[in-house]
Amino acid sequence: MRNTIVLFLFFIIITQTISQDIRSLLLTKLNNIQYQCTNYGCSSSTIVLALNLRACEIACLVNIDCRTLTFDQSNNQCELFVDIPSQYGSLIIQANIITMTAVNNGQLPAPMTIDTTTSTYSPTTTTSLSTTSSSSTTTTTTIRTSTTSTTTTSSTSTTSATTTTATTTSSTTTTTTTTTTTTTMFTCISSLTGATMLLNLTNSPSQSYTQYSYNYIAVTTSTRLTLSFRMDSKNWSLDTLSVKRIGTSTELLTNGDFDSGTMSGWASCNPNNATNFGYLQYDPLYTQSGSYYWKDASTGAVDYLYQYFSSVVGASYTISFYLKADTGLPNSANVYIGS
Ligand SMILES: *[C@@H]1O[C@H](CO)[C@@H](O)[C@H](O)[C@H]1NC(C)=O
Ligand SMILES: *[C@@H]1O[C@H](CO)[C@@H](O)[C@H](O)[C@H]1NC(C)=O
Ligand SMILES: *[C@@H]1O[C@H](CO)[C@@H](O)[C@H](O)[C@H]1NC(C)=O
Repeated sequence: MRNTIVLFLFFIIITQTISQDIRSLLLTKLNNIQYQCTNYGCSSSTIVLALNLRACEIACLVNIDCRTLTFDQSNNQCELFVDIPSQYGSLIIQANIITMTAVNNGQLPAPMTIDTTTSTYSPTTTTSLSTTSSSSTTTTTTIRTSTTSTTTTSSTSTTSATTTTATTTSSTTTTTTTTTTTTTMFTCISSLTGATMLLNLTNSPSQSYTQYSYNYIAVTTSTRLTLSFRMDSKNWSLDTLSVKRIGTSTELLTNGDFDSGTMSGWASCNPNNATNFGYLQYDPLYTQSGSYYWKDASTGAVDYLYQYFSSVVGASYTISFYLKADTGLPNSANVYIGS
């Protein structure tokens, strides 16, 4: 009958995680076949009780030396052998007995990739979750660092939401601080800071139109000429202003004799709210030239008249004008150059 033995071969890979070691064993499954260790030199076997075939397989796997097993389905007896049948034993037909034996003479490298990753990844996920919650607790202290972790978690805690608000507020404050510095710079007075005073007449006696002339070396590309007057109860008369670069004949002032009849080229201001502040006067009999002049009876405080002209830094210029006084007291006439 042994000649008619038909072997049903199945190849089964059993893997099992034992602690941190993963062992796999490629086994051939023989149904209704029993392995008997009959020859001399056959190793002793170990008999254990197994719930089913699978449990017996596992028992073999756990036993590091096991290479063959027989499982008796009638009494759940699981017998483990160190040998494989081709070495020492013999195979006989026996109902309800399953024999499984190692295909190759050794253990296969563990196909651990899937099992290992699953077990490795799940604790990692847990770790990262706990890290997230703990980091949101600490976010309250450090604002900058926490912003990144807050973005990652986003949906989680209220603590992180509060932190985000704090961060936004602090950055907004910084921006505001930078912007506030801008103040309105120009007034007719502030521009006189650092200007050169060409003329200072105080409580001047009466005088007819008198020409004043100065040479000036420009320090900026745009030079401001400023005149400031006060004359309580009487008035100053100003006419025929001129600025020319020395050696040229080009008039650099616009409407220097006021004869356009307008304030073209000129600006004036009355920062002290003086009464009778200066204005453009038409009176051909009272002018130094032409029909218009600047009449100024600023009372109680000074007022200002000024004009910018383009200049070359380091170049010399001649500034000239005519001034007439109908004396009243107190009075002052000041002329400034530069910006
Ligand atoms: C002009 O000079 C007088 C002294 O003669 C001085 O008291 C006054 O402050 C000066 N004016 C200016 C605007 O500097
Ligand atoms: C100013 O000048 C005019 C001449 O244009 C003269 O009549 C007047 O008395 C002066 N004084 C005042 C305060 O206007
Ligand atoms: C001039 O008057 C304006 C209101 O018309 C006032 O705001 C300003 O403070 C006054 N300036 C001076 C120097 O009195």
